[in-house]
Amino acid sequence: MKIAITGATGQLGSIVIEKLLLQTEANNIVALVRNPANATHLTAQNIEVREFDYDRPETLVPALSGIDKLLLISANEVGRRTPQHKAVIDAAKVAGVPYLAYTSLLRADTSPLGLAQEHRETEKLIQDSGLRYTFLRNNWYSENYLAGVAHTIEIGTLFGAAQDGRISSASRIDYAEAAAKVLTSTGHDNQTYELAGSQSFSLSELATLIGQAASKTINYQNLSAEEYTQGLTQAGLPAGLVEVIVDADIQTIQGAMYSDSQDLEQLIGRKTTNIQDAIKAAL
Ligand SMILES: NC(=O)c1ccc[n+]([C@@H]2O[C@H](COP(=O)([O-])OP(=O)(O)OC[C@H]3O[C@@H](n4cnc5c(N)ncnc54)[C@H](OP(=O)(O)O)[C@@H]3O)[C@@H](O)[C@H]2O)c1
Repeated sequence: MKIAITGATGQLGSIVIEKLLLQTEANNIVALVRNPANATHLTAQNIEVREFDYDRPETLVPALSGIDKLLLISANEVGRRTPQHKAVIDAAKVAGVPYLAYTSLLRADTSPLGLAQEHRETEKLIQDSGLRYTFLRNNWYSENYLAGVAHTIEIGTLFGAAQDGRISSASRIDYAEAAAKVLTSTGHDNQTYELAGSQSFSLSELATLIGQAASKTINYQNLSAEEYTQGLTQAGLPAGLVEVIVDADIQTIQGAMYSDSQDLEQLIGRKTTNIQDAIKAAL
């Protein structure tokens, strides 16, 4: 049984491989990477590394030779992802890969998030391909909310535009463990899992929890979409990323980041990492 992972040198892919190693032998795992020079740590663990660049079609079909299960971790260049994913799906068909799991987005079919469009398109391509599939519809990573935690503590204020919208995020480690479980067990063909945290929080509660962890009062300040856009832009974030972050908060108000699905905790057999532990890890 050969299980191949795209984006194997990325943040999620790296943890998927760690989790797979707990379930199967290293020689069952194939790491598909854009740049093999960045994957020597995987070779050292007896994991086969194959070059695989979505933008270089000639690398795709050969790298998928003999693969029984493929995990397509969604690419990270927003706006270019549908053709990149299509290239992988087409190559999987040509190479005779029978099964593909794809890291999608929570409720991708109905989500109002701007990011959902490419996931919808990719899910359709996969369904139309005739391959057996599993959609791992990941909600937001908790890490997204904690990337600037040191700065938040320094200034005593958490900024956002999500009002009191609730967020059922989970940590990369939770989503990675679910992916590894799906890849190493049966019964997941043509299933769609809505993967979200066991608990939810608002940004105001997050500010309080960060304050508790740092022994300091942290206030949440809610901004309008325009004010938040301006603030993030002035902080030096690229326009595309600012758009994604502000859109996520605005859609959070309407419930786009909330889910009471238990698919994730059922797959991993435990509650997801709670936000307090994610804060501690970030600190
Ligand atoms: N749910 C969420 O909150 C959330 C947040 C952010 C992103 N995402 C999505 O989830 C994915 C995984 O998250 P992550 O944190 O692991 O992101 P990441 O660390 O940026 O990993 C993305 C991976 O995609 C690979 N990649 C990008 N372009 C490629 C190409 N042309 N050919 C082959 N590989 C390519 C990268 O290769 P290199 O290692 O060579 O760079 C990297 O390994 C992201 O790509 C994005 O689609 C979800």
